[in-house]
Order: sequence, then structure tokens, then C-alpha cells
Amino acid sequence: MYNLKVLEIFKNPKNVGTVKGANGVAKVENNACGDIMKIYIKVSEEGIIEDAKFKTYGCPAAIASTSVATELIKGKTVEEANLISSEQILQILGELPEEKNYCPILAEETIKAVIEDYYKKKEKEEKSI
Ligand code: FES
Repeated sequence: MYNLKVLEIFKNPKNVGTVKGANGVAKVENNACGDIMKIYIKVSEEGIIEDAKFKTYGCPAAIASTSVATELIKGKTVEEANLISSEQILQILGELPEEKNYCPILAEETIKAVIEDYYKKKEKEEKSI
């Protein structure tokens, strides 16, 4: 069973939705369970993640993990956000049932993927100038 913290975040997740004018978007799927996480970020000229939102199709642990992930990256530089680990996410959630331990890892992968997308878009933009 889930602990109270996970249930609380699952019932009131933070940052659900999409970001208007996002300059980074990524969707990551876990083929084993079918869960899908999608994160949108808006990064300022100075490289700070001003906004982050998510849409997750999955279990309470997957939703809670993505909620925590978006909270952790908001306000950080992209370099700092790229260093966020699944262990940090798990630490905030507390314990998860063993079969759900992959959820924070998928959230970390989604953070890395959205930052990669941001870098790709930025590079493309710079090339077109
Ligand atoms: Fe599917 Fe966690 S990622 S159960």
C-alpha cells in the first residue's frame, strides 16, 4: 500500500497541465507497465526553469513522482535540474511499494528528456539566427 504522503500528493498533485510557450517538452513511456509521463518546461533566457507542468497516465506512484519532479525543477537552472535523481524524488515520497520503485526513475528520465529537448530546440534556434 501507499504511504500517506504519496496518497496526499496523488490526490492533490502540483503542476498538472501544460505550459504555454513551453520551450521543452518530453514524453517518456515505460513499456513494461504502460505508464506515460509528459513534462513541459519554460526556460528563461538566463537558463532558469520558470515553469514546469506535467501530464501523467499511470498509477498513484507515477503521478506523485511526476508532481514532485516538476516541483523540484521549478526555479532551478537547467544544469541543476539535470542533476536531480530518482533517489531525491523517492526521498520526498518516502517509501514506495517495491513494484513501484521504477516510478521515480521514470520521472528522472522524463526530466532528463525534457532538458534534452530544450537544448535541441535552443540549438536549432541559434542555428537559424
Ligand atoms: Fe509504471 Fe511506475 S512507472 S508503475
